[in-house]
Amino acid sequence: MKEPLKTETLTLNIKDFAEAFGTSEDEVSLFCGNLIRTLDFKYTICPQETREKIFLDVITKCDHALFPVSGKHRKPDWRKGWGENLKDLFSSEDLGALIPKYWRGDRPLRYKGEYILASSDSFERDFGDVFKLWLYHKYFKDYDNIYDFGCGTGYDLANMAGKLPGKRFFGMDWAPESQGLLATIAEKYGWQMKGINFDLFRPDYKLEILPNSLVYTSSSLEQLGVDHNSFTNYLLAKQPSLCVNMECLSEYYDKNNLFDFLALKYHKARNYLDGFLTRLRGFEKEEKIKIIATKRTGFGSLYHEAYMYVIWKIL
Ligand SMILES: C[S@@+](CC[C@H](N)C(=O)[O-])C[C@H]1O[C@@H](n2cnc3c(N)ncnc32)[C@H](O)[C@@H]1O
Repeated sequence: MKEPLKTETLTLNIKDFAEAFGTSEDEVSLFCGNLIRTLDFKYTICPQETREKIFLDVITKCDHALFPVSGKHRKPDWRKGWGENLKDLFSSEDLGALIPKYWRGDRPLRYKGEYILASSDSFERDFGDVFKLWLYHKYFKDYDNIYDFGCGTGYDLANMAGKLPGKRFFGMDWAPESQGLLATIAEKYGWQMKGINFDLFRPDYKLEILPNSLVYTSSSLEQLGVDHNSFTNYLLAKQPSLCVNMECLSEYYDKNNLFDFLALKYHKARNYLDGFLTRLRGFEKEEKIKIIATKRTGFGSLYHEAYMYVIWKIL
């Protein structure tokens, strides 16, 4: 196949999404075709010069410890961030106020081993919306109760509530502002949705998981570093029917490839999720769980790739 010229304008199409998700074009077309057609997925591949500048930027910032490190001390930062979204929601009364401010449209993105420049500044969020729509159609339909752990502003829950009618939604987060956001949108839109204060580092076993439930996380386990055992033990005890994690899974990076190596360097500098997929694979060997699907989509933001997934169930 002909290599695309670096300056050529390309567009993500149904085939690209199918390859990224690990499914058929027919399925992507059926579940997400209408949404894809409304969005702008045009991009160009960054030239070598830009690529080298980004590599240097990562190395320098890691060497000078300029990236914020996640962990227990970050709670006030999340409270502050979601407090701003809550203020926006009160003044605008618009679901757009739920968009986290860290989705920036002004930087290159990662796609299949290249840095790319998107034509639309909502490219990353749009990719995420298509990816999540595919996940909802494929995996969420059969469950009555959806639990989003580390739900943040409720951006995903609001999306789900609009697309999966008749279900109950629970959004857990350690930031009380998240519960304020969920209470506001639940009342305004009449959704069966509840926010519950919950610390993933110290799971509250009093929180029951109802029968026929799906547990979802999106870039929240990311924040736990190596401290994910308490939460996975909680899940094993509570036995939800299905778990869907959209997280940065460090196991997928290839240490022998510079593009991946630097994403992993960034991942470690930020103390992001470490060893989660390995632990799940260990549980699978012990026949405690079954991993139904797991994949790296190949898409990400400037520094790393949060669009990887693992779907598993407890045996
Ligand atoms: C990157 S945001 C993702 C938010 C949301 N899932 C999304 O995709 O928009 C990480 C979220 O995890 C939450 N979080 C981080 N550590 C947590 C902990 N120990 N317990 C509960 N929530 C936590 C933060 O408050 C924040 O809402």
